[in-house]
Amino acid sequence: MEKFSVLVVSVLFFLPLLHGGFAKAAGTQDRSEEWGYAEVRPKAHMFWWLYRSPYRVEDPSKPWPIILWLQGGPGASGVGIGNFEEVGPLDTDLKPRNSTWLRKADLLFVDNPVGTGYSFVEDTTLLVKTDEEAAADLTTLLMKIFNRNVSLQKSPLFIVAESYGGKYAVTLGLSALKAIEAGKLKLKLGGVVLGDSWISPEDFVFSWAPLLKDVSRLDNNGVQKANSLAQQIKQQIEGGQYVDATKSWMTLESVVTESSNFVDFYNFLLDTGMDPVTLTAEEPSSRIAAKRYSRYLNSLRSSPVGDGDTDNFMDVVIREKLKIIPDDVTWGGQSEAVFSALEGDFMKPRINEVDELLAKGINVTIYNGQLDLICATKGTEAWVEKLKWEGLKSFLSVERTPLYCGDNKVTKGFTKSYKNLHFYWILGAGHFVPVDQPCIALNMVGDITQ
Ligand SMILES: *[C@@H]1O[C@H](CO)[C@@H](O)[C@H](O)[C@H]1NC(C)=O
Ligand SMILES: *[C@@H]1O[C@H](CO)[C@@H](O)[C@H](O)[C@H]1NC(C)=O
Ligand SMILES: *[C@@H]1O[C@H](CO)[C@@H](O)[C@H](O)[C@H]1NC(C)=O
Repeated sequence: MEKFSVLVVSVLFFLPLLHGGFAKAAGTQDRSEEWGYAEVRPKAHMFWWLYRSPYRVEDPSKPWPIILWLQGGPGASGVGIGNFEEVGPLDTDLKPRNSTWLRKADLLFVDNPVGTGYSFVEDTTLLVKTDEEAAADLTTLLMKIFNRNVSLQKSPLFIVAESYGGKYAVTLGLSALKAIEAGKLKLKLGGVVLGDSWISPEDFVFSWAPLLKDVSRLDNNGVQKANSLAQQIKQQIEGGQYVDATKSWMTLESVVTESSNFVDFYNFLLDTGMDPVTLTAEEPSSRIAAKRYSRYLNSLRSSPVGDGDTDNFMDVVIREKLKIIPDDVTWGGQSEAVFSALEGDFMKPRINEVDELLAKGINVTIYNGQLDLICATKGTEAWVEKLKWEGLKSFLSVERTPLYCGDNKVTKGFTKSYKNLHFYWILGAGHFVPVDQPCIALNMVGDITQ
């Protein structure tokens, strides 16, 4: 019970802004944490949570950075998953996380796009249908948080994304730069970081069969089935039939799952342990994807809160702390609708946006877990080679530097950089790099944010 009381007594201030009957922001008395709702469009409410680092070093020549964490899905909660399961100060047992990224930066979590996590829309027609719409909402959020706060404006903002979040990150990077240039957003963009990011769906679906064949998880029969579906997806993308491409992607996931006897898409050395019934039933894939997402993370937890269910943890324990979540908002209650609303954009590549960021001189860092399947390193390397960026040839020919962590002289990864493009290969990690390799992930974030 002790951990509960720590949470409850720490909340001591509310901003006296009320809208439609709910408080818009609150925080801890020492202001080390603040959270709130921003109305990014009428009736579209985005929830954010900012943590100030206790490890902050004051140095006017090197302002302390802020990381904006963008979760994937679409529809997965940054405030829930990224914060409590990956990089925030506490885990889902409310125990301190030694490898928290607060060691290197302040952390801003958001439930993005609206409808995700604690964010909500009053009318489902207000859910975003494209990555650009999500980026516009995020830009509005940043204006609301940063423009009124001179101290925040001094910190460079690093947009760090995981999975589908990468598509928001590159569109947000461009949208934020535009707003900065127009004088509408007061903020310094430090860089964009793409962790196991869904930047080019076509390259990922083509990577699956050969990768799984090489590690004995598919045979030639499975490869043939998977590749013919990948070919169909390629044609649908080329023909602009994006909704059909999303449907074929769902079919392809089922085929790969079946042919491989339930390989885990987030770590190809594992099985999903999924109930075969949910797979063969025609369930919406958002549901399957979200379940897989949290099942993998849950399986890594030693002693889960309550019955091991993140929904319960967020909806009961954390809601109690935050105080401002409206009673009729369920954490994740609109998540499936978020995925469905984006089904026409889900399979669209965002390679051009990466090119634009590189051409503008923005630092772009890509990192990838070795054992990821859904956003496999093989697929990431394939889309990187499609960049039109003038530095690409030189980047590809640079030698890699090995990475180690702690006293242990075991190779943990490799990195290389050329100009403003940086790449980290993280060994022994699946899709959720900070969970699987916390030490090397923390070092990497320190290097990126300096
Ligand atoms: C916690 O992290 C610090 C710095 O990253 C490290 O020196 C220390 O060994 C870690 N402690 C544990 C218990 O892992
Ligand atoms: C704005 O900056 C002040 C310090 O000048 C700080 O106390 C306050 O909490 C900040 N607000 C936000 C939302 O970051
Ligand atoms: C990009 O990152 C490098 C270090 O990796 C840093 O020296 C440089 O100033 C950064 N450039 C920009 C424009 O932020």
